[in-house]
This record gives sequence, C-alpha cells and structure tokens, in this order.
Amino acid sequence: MTTTNILIVGAGAIGAFCASRLSFAPNTKVSCICRSNYKAVSTSGFSITSPTFGSYVFTPAHTFANPEEAADSKIEWDYVLVSTKALPDVSDDSMILEGLLEEGRTAIVLVQNGLGVEEPYTKRFPGVTVLSAVTIISAAQEEPGVIKHNRWTRTNIGPYLPGTTDDTKLDAKQQSAVDSNTKFVELLKKGGIKDADAYSHAKLQMVRWHKIAINAAMNPSAVLSSGTTNNAMSLDPELSRHLKGVMEEVLSTAPKVLGTPLPKEFATPEAIIRSTQKNTSGSKPSMLLDWEQGKKMELEVILGNPMRIAREHGLEMPRLQSLYALLRMAQENRDAAKKGSKL
Ligand SMILES: NC(=O)c1ccc[n+]([C@@H]2O[C@H](COP(=O)([O-])OP(=O)(O)OC[C@H]3O[C@@H](n4cnc5c(N)ncnc54)[C@H](OP(=O)(O)O)[C@@H]3O)[C@@H](O)[C@H]2O)c1
Repeated sequence: MTTTNILIVGAGAIGAFCASRLSFAPNTKVSCICRSNYKAVSTSGFSITSPTFGSYVFTPAHTFANPEEAADSKIEWDYVLVSTKALPDVSDDSMILEGLLEEGRTAIVLVQNGLGVEEPYTKRFPGVTVLSAVTIISAAQEEPGVIKHNRWTRTNIGPYLPGTTDDTKLDAKQQSAVDSNTKFVELLKKGGIKDADAYSHAKLQMVRWHKIAINAAMNPSAVLSSGTTNNAMSLDPELSRHLKGVMEEVLSTAPKVLGTPLPKEFATPEAIIRSTQKNTSGSKPSMLLDWEQGKKMELEVILGNPMRIAREHGLEMPRLQSLYALLRMAQENRDAAKKGSKL
C-alpha cells in the first residue's frame, strides 16, 4: 500500500490534535511545520491529553522549523492541512504553501472557523483542490507542544466547489476533489474521529454559516462584556436575548445568501442557548482568550466577511455590524496603546 503524506501548517491546538489522530490511520505519515513550539516539539513531540483518547505522545514523522525546510524535504504531500488562525487582516497564510503543492496530487484542507477562508487559497492556487472543514473540536495548546483536548470531535468536510449545488453534474476535476475529500474523512475516522463526515460543497457552506452564527454571537460578546463565559452569558436575561438575536440574524441571512434553506436538523438558537445554559465547564471562547493574551482576534472571518457577503446580496446585518465596528476599533486602540507604551 502507498503511504499518504500529510503536512500540518499551523500546528497549534487544532492542527496538532488532528495531526495526532491522523497519525493512527494505517500507512499515513504526518509531519508538521512548527513555529514558536518548534524547540519543544522537535525535542519531545506533542503531549496530548484527551477525555476520548487518553494521554499519549505524538511524534511527527518530520518536524520542520519553517516552510522552506518542508519544501526542501522533497516529500510529495497528499494533503496540506492548514489550521493557523484565519487572520486575513494580518497575513495571507496561503503564501506559506508556495512550493509545497503538486497540482493533481495535493489537496489543501482548511480547518479554520469563519466565512471566506477558502478564497486566498483558490486565488493563489486555482488548479489545486481545496477541502473546507468545520470542526467543533475544543482544544488548547497550554504550553509549547502540550495539547489539551477538552471535548467533542465532530468535524464536517466538503470539497470547495463554488458555483455548484447538490444537483450539479460534476466534471472530472470536481469529482476528484470529492474523492479526495472522502479519502481524508476516512483517514480521520481510522484515526478515531468517528463523527467525521464528508459533506457536499453546498452543505458544508451551510455548516460554516451555522457555526459562525454561534461564534459571532458568543465570541465578540464575551470580549465586549469584559470576559463573561458562554454559560454566564446564556443565563443572563438581556445577554441571552442578545445572543439569540445575533444567531437569528445570521441564520435568517444564510438562506438568502446561499439560495437554499438550512437543514431542519441544524440546532436552533433556542436549542443552542439551552445547551449553553447546561454547559458549566466555564470555557472561554477563543476570541476572548486572544483578546486577553493581546493577540489579534478572528474578527474579519467571523464578523467582517459574513457582513460583507450579505451586503453583496443587498442585505444588512446590523447586529454583526455593531459588534464588528466596536471590536475592530477596540483592537486598534489596544494595539496603538501597546505600541505607544513601547516608544
Ligand atoms: N481551539 C479550538 O478549540 C477551536 C475549535 C474550533 C475551531 N477552531 C479554529 O481552528 C483554527 C485554529 O485554531 P487554534 O485554536 O488551533 O489556534 P492556535 O492554537 O493558535 O494554533 C495556530 C497555530 O498556527 C501557527 N502558525 C500561525 N502562523 C504560522 C506560520 N506562518 N507558520 C507556521 N505556523 C504558524 C501558530 O504558531 P505560533 O504559536 O508560533 O503563533 C500556532 O501554533 C482557528 O480558525 C480557530 O477559530 C479552534
């Protein structure tokens, strides 16, 4: 059997956890490009703790210090999984993939939150297959190379084929993207992610909208309410109304943009609020963690892009617009103050 070679770009919480599971699939070698965690990972690999899989060490087949080292290895990558934070206002991470892809062989797998994350990759590499993934895995890198999987593994992946619907007759290239997608989902399943699922392009974009309904409601509100957990927000009468309002705005805009209703099985805002009220784990949304650590937040892909995509369709999203305008300026002011204090 031939070996499947997978390269991880963005080997943080999600990237390293996915890498560790994929490494259990037969005939699969998983390598990582590391950055600030390079020293720790090249010395001792990743230490993973998980309520589902226990504690284990994952040693990448190759640990690269930068993309050039990965390109110099001359390994022919079947999949390049990107799980950097999606920050188009800071960097175009598609650049990292220059020299790593082979058209007709490599598929890019984007495991990132938000809308419009695929575009920089399809623009730079128009001939390369892009698979788009939404995961609800909750994980954190607690210190370099130390990954804590908190809960959940559900991951949906679809080939990124804009312009197609579930009724479109796919050409050979599009069909090969579907096959590549199916194979990747199989690898995840063999690695223990039993609830990995292959979706069509159209359904995956619906999942993206549904996930950002939750992210756009919880993440900015946790920051703007000065560090309130999801659970506490969902239990506060006014904040909970606000969360529901944001989710309703996103979920009522999505069908108008996508041209098709969202599946009935997707959780409603009420169900999401009820489940958040029961989740007392005290976990903080990633945007809040980024804000607290003085890092850039994924504002553009979670708030800015949905708002702009809606506008292209003649639709306004006033709740998202307010959250976006306020947080973007808060981030700008914070960064300016940081710069000023360093002068
Ligand atoms: N964590 C979760 O529970 C969760 C759940 C669902 C979805 N997501 C989504 O998954 C994506 C990844 O999130 P995450 O929590 O895994 O983020 P993370 O822990 O911050 O990991 C991102 C990794 O990318 C690395 N990176 C960034 N730019 C790089 C570059 N140019 N070259 C090499 N490495 C680079 C970072 O290195 P440095 O450490 O050196 O910056 C870091 O290790 C985001 O879109 C997030 O919204 C996260």
